[in-house]
Amino acid sequence: MNLRIPGPTPVPSEVAQAGAAEMINHRGPEFDALIRRVTERVKRVYQTEHDVLTLTASGTGGMEAAVANHVTPGERALVVTIGEFGKRFVEIVDAYGAQPVELAVEFGQAADPARIDAALKADPAIQTVLITHNETSTGVTNVYLPEVAEVVHRHGALLIVDAISSLSSIPVKTDAWNLDVVVSGSQKGWMTAPGLAFVSVNERAWERQAANKTPRYYFDLRKARSSLEKGETPWTPAVSLFFQLDRALDLMFEEGLDAIYERHRRLARMTREGMKALGLELLAAEGVESDTVTAVKMPAKVDGSKFLSIAQQEFDAVFAGGQGSLRGKIFRFGHLGYVTEEDVRAGLRAVEGTLAQLGHAVAGRA
Ligand SMILES: Cc1ncc(COP(=O)(O)O)c(C=O)c1O
Repeated sequence: MNLRIPGPTPVPSEVAQAGAAEMINHRGPEFDALIRRVTERVKRVYQTEHDVLTLTASGTGGMEAAVANHVTPGERALVVTIGEFGKRFVEIVDAYGAQPVELAVEFGQAADPARIDAALKADPAIQTVLITHNETSTGVTNVYLPEVAEVVHRHGALLIVDAISSLSSIPVKTDAWNLDVVVSGSQKGWMTAPGLAFVSVNERAWERQAANKTPRYYFDLRKARSSLEKGETPWTPAVSLFFQLDRALDLMFEEGLDAIYERHRRLARMTREGMKALGLELLAAEGVESDTVTAVKMPAKVDGSKFLSIAQQEFDAVFAGGQGSLRGKIFRFGHLGYVTEEDVRAGLRAVEGTLAQLGHAVAGRA
């Protein structure tokens, strides 16, 4: 099967097999060595000297941990949304009793730091800004993230970043860009099965946590940090996923981070060019297209759900549909993690063949 959704992504067989290893004591010496080895390398991928905590949770759990630990009930928090995953931050902030102030950007576009600056000037009570680095629902990367961080800190606020579908595939320079809290998830570029979330925390964020009165327990990052100092997690971790991640990190460092980023750039370009050659239009504006997922406008008269089912049944290719208001209007083609040129070519052939079966004349050949 050619799994071309933007996560969960294919897991290399040696990584899958690593997850089948015999169970170990999660409070014993083997796990102590494992979590230290994994954490040290995850920090290198994050490009941070600060703390990174690995939680047993999906990416949304990492987002919830970021909110629960840093956002105080009643506070007004600016949430910059460029798609559906940004809106998830709005919901989590609301669920934790804070007041989300949404700065909504048209789908397909990236956030403009000048608009964030204006929003913070207009509402000086805002202490926290939340943003998605790579919006998986629209195939857009917030390419101005370093400038956004500069603006946010000029206003004395804290920046929380969802880099779930970018970090490890697209460069994220956590410390150089001064990102306070950054979330990622194992099922994306990390070539590991779903179930682990990563949250980085710098000094500014730890200070915020100390003052934060939000009730928290499972996701209390202070507990995660003090357990990590002892080579443990506060609660029973998904040990098998740690085994997988350990092996996936071996593969990532064998390939080299720069080579991984270059491969993602190349495959994303190939995907975009292939779609355009078929006469299809992309949702993302030029210059902000994501290197991990491409969102393609569904041609008029093509039924989105039929497109997805024919692609799978006839061409063994699995694409993702649109989410929320984009349902039926786009399909999404994932090219992140364990993916090769041949996977992309096969995916493009599947798009072409599926459209032909649905009676849509394609402009050229992928
Ligand atoms: C940008 C982004 N944010 C958040 C999530 C949510 O992560 P999860 O589905 O692992 O909870 C995803 C993954 O689907 C994502 O791509």
